[in-house]
Amino acid sequence: MTDRLIGLFEQSDGKFLSGEQLSEELGVSRTAVWKQIERLRQQGYRFEAVSRKGYRLLSKPDRLDMSRLQLKLETERFGRYVKYYDQVESTQIVAARCVADGAEEGTLILTEEQTAGKGRMGRKWHSPVGKGIWMSLVLKPVWIPLLFTPQLTLLVAVALCRAIRGATGVEAGIKWPNDLLVGGKKVAGILLESSAEDERLQHVIAGVGISVNLQSDDFPPELWDTATSLAIEAGRQVDRIEVLSRFLLEWEQLYGLYRREGFAPIKLLWEALTVSLHRNIRCRTPQGEFEGFAEGIDEHGALQLRLADGTVKKLYSADISF
Ligand code: BTN
Repeated sequence: MTDRLIGLFEQSDGKFLSGEQLSEELGVSRTAVWKQIERLRQQGYRFEAVSRKGYRLLSKPDRLDMSRLQLKLETERFGRYVKYYDQVESTQIVAARCVADGAEEGTLILTEEQTAGKGRMGRKWHSPVGKGIWMSLVLKPVWIPLLFTPQLTLLVAVALCRAIRGATGVEAGIKWPNDLLVGGKKVAGILLESSAEDERLQHVIAGVGISVNLQSDDFPPELWDTATSLAIEAGRQVDRIEVLSRFLLEWEQLYGLYRREGFAPIKLLWEALTVSLHRNIRCRTPQGEFEGFAEGIDEHGALQLRLADGTVKKLYSADISF
């Protein structure tokens, strides 16, 4: 019935269709029609409802076109095998299952919507349908010592920042360690979940959430002051496939560079794109809160914070604010 209902609206050329007309055409009650329309609304379809006229389809949800992604992709491995869903709890959970089933490096899990998207430090990640890039990529960096895991987060942030700038012209900056900001507001976040054996990384599930086409009313009120989207910042609808394909290419290239030449070139790129250094910052960590001057990052990717007593504290993960 859903497909037939959508078909009727598509044929109607943006005209109103009454509840009665629809129920006759579909052979169901008007209540059933109304319920179906509500269901479609939840999936991102927008309708105008006017009494005595009926319903008019305003827009359909934007869906990621997997064939277009494959045509646009210039990578060798990243995103060449994709598992694409309409809705999942969290792509991190799906990716973990894929890893257990022997997924190859570069396997991409992509969804239109997450019902329980995971953020860092046990937070939730808001992932409404059709508006963002909600993805997890499987990596198998068995050549990276466990100690260097933070470097990988910085590498992903550099790739994402370059992709956003290149695809949209939006001047995103990296907030150490995992956030992408525009004008002080968060536009994307990174969550790395890894497993290790004998002090070496075995696999990493790199989760990335990019708020692409959300408008202010797509965010819950508690995020209005701190979150933004690429569409809000660019002042136009943004092509998600363009952002995603650029991101995967940047990421694969930097990953190759890192493997060949180590962290030094990534560190330079990161330093050029960060908004976190050479300023006073506050850091919340599980060990407590610290304030100081952010001097730089070390060769492991740790943040060097100069405290009021002159000593330098190294931080591997924290929530920072300016
Ligand atoms: C953060 O900034 O707290 C990290 C957010 C990471 C969100 C992404 S969305 C896709 C992937 N699946 C999840 O459940 N989380 C990550």
